[in-house]
Amino acid sequence: MTKDKVVLAYSGGLDTSVLVRILSLDYGYDVIAVHVDVGEARDAKEVVARAKAAGAVAVELVEAQEEFARDFCFPALQANALYQGVYPLNSALSRPLIAKHLVAAARQHGAVAVAHGSTGKGNDQVRFDLGTKGLAPELKIIAPQRERNISRDAAMEYAATHGIPVPASKKSPFSIDENLWGRSIEGGVLEDPAAEPPEEAFAWTRGPTTASPQPTLLRIGFEAGLPVSVDGKRLSPAALIRRVGEVAGQNGVGRIDLMENRMVGIKSREVYEAPAAVALIAAHQDLERFTTIALSHSVKRELDDHFANMVYQGFWFSPLREAIQAFNDVHNKSVTGEVTLKLHHASLRVVGRTSPYGVYNQALSTYGKEDSFDHRAAEGFIQLMGLQLQEFARLHGEPKP
Ligand code: ARG
Repeated sequence: MTKDKVVLAYSGGLDTSVLVRILSLDYGYDVIAVHVDVGEARDAKEVVARAKAAGAVAVELVEAQEEFARDFCFPALQANALYQGVYPLNSALSRPLIAKHLVAAARQHGAVAVAHGSTGKGNDQVRFDLGTKGLAPELKIIAPQRERNISRDAAMEYAATHGIPVPASKKSPFSIDENLWGRSIEGGVLEDPAAEPPEEAFAWTRGPTTASPQPTLLRIGFEAGLPVSVDGKRLSPAALIRRVGEVAGQNGVGRIDLMENRMVGIKSREVYEAPAAVALIAAHQDLERFTTIALSHSVKRELDDHFANMVYQGFWFSPLREAIQAFNDVHNKSVTGEVTLKLHHASLRVVGRTSPYGVYNQALSTYGKEDSFDHRAAEGFIQLMGLQLQEFARLHGEPKP
């Protein structure tokens, strides 16, 4: 009898290697392992070999760095997406992309289910599940880690007993999830909110003693709200993110320490390093302020907040995300130009911007003699603006201190 097929989101690490075997032995599936490359430094050949050795009947490697950059990171950038005002959503953005490729593989192989290795207390389970539901409501979703809560030690033991090869790399004291847009660092000593994250937690950003001694200027070019060049050189979306990340990281920019509100109600201490995201969002926000008018800018800020929350909660494949993104595309039509960033010792400042659409008229704003603003017009404007206040005060007298 042929077995049903399941498509597993396979990272190449210990946990998902063990899951390959569990899904085939205990759940009775033929397992198709799908590894989506979103910019983690992993050796593809090794990933394939490990999935096979763990018992996968097929392995799919999806090279998705440019897709991730263009279709997920850049829309998030247009929305200046920062959860709780600081977290650029690197992990949250990758899950719907992985879900999309799981669904594609499931259809291609005629699988009845998708599976992932997320636990029952994190956010990623929600994002994988909602991503799958939003694209393929007919697929079953299996999350063995959520059902069984397999500890790291138990996984190691299982791998040893079943002869499953695991990555040889030395065990990190942290739980890491990384992609082009950033690196999430959890666990170990970071679980004490009072303890400063040790230098060894960081891999992409330099600390005070090793950061570049000299400041670096970085000129980011945008077209319609999308970054297209660095210092005048045009780069693909993924290459651009990598370049900005490198320079910002060398200057120690992009470290984030957040007491985070998880979806399941838990407060957790999360540490991130996202040098590219932090620098690009600062640049984009600045150019948006320069090239859009106050009326639309205030609505955009509210929508930005919705966008970030929605991505955090796993609603990427939703009509609301599409609608807000459509608004952002229109709003960003004028967000074209260049922004100069100055990076030095963990500080990031916008120090200049140019644009053919800068809504800035020096003749209006100057205090110099070229002033063309009609000062007298302000008088009538203030008279009407203050009328309601004046009438109220006439009835109630002076407000009591
Ligand atoms: N707290 C972050 C988020 O929910 C990071 C999650 C990191 N994921 C992981 N599997 N380590 O987006």
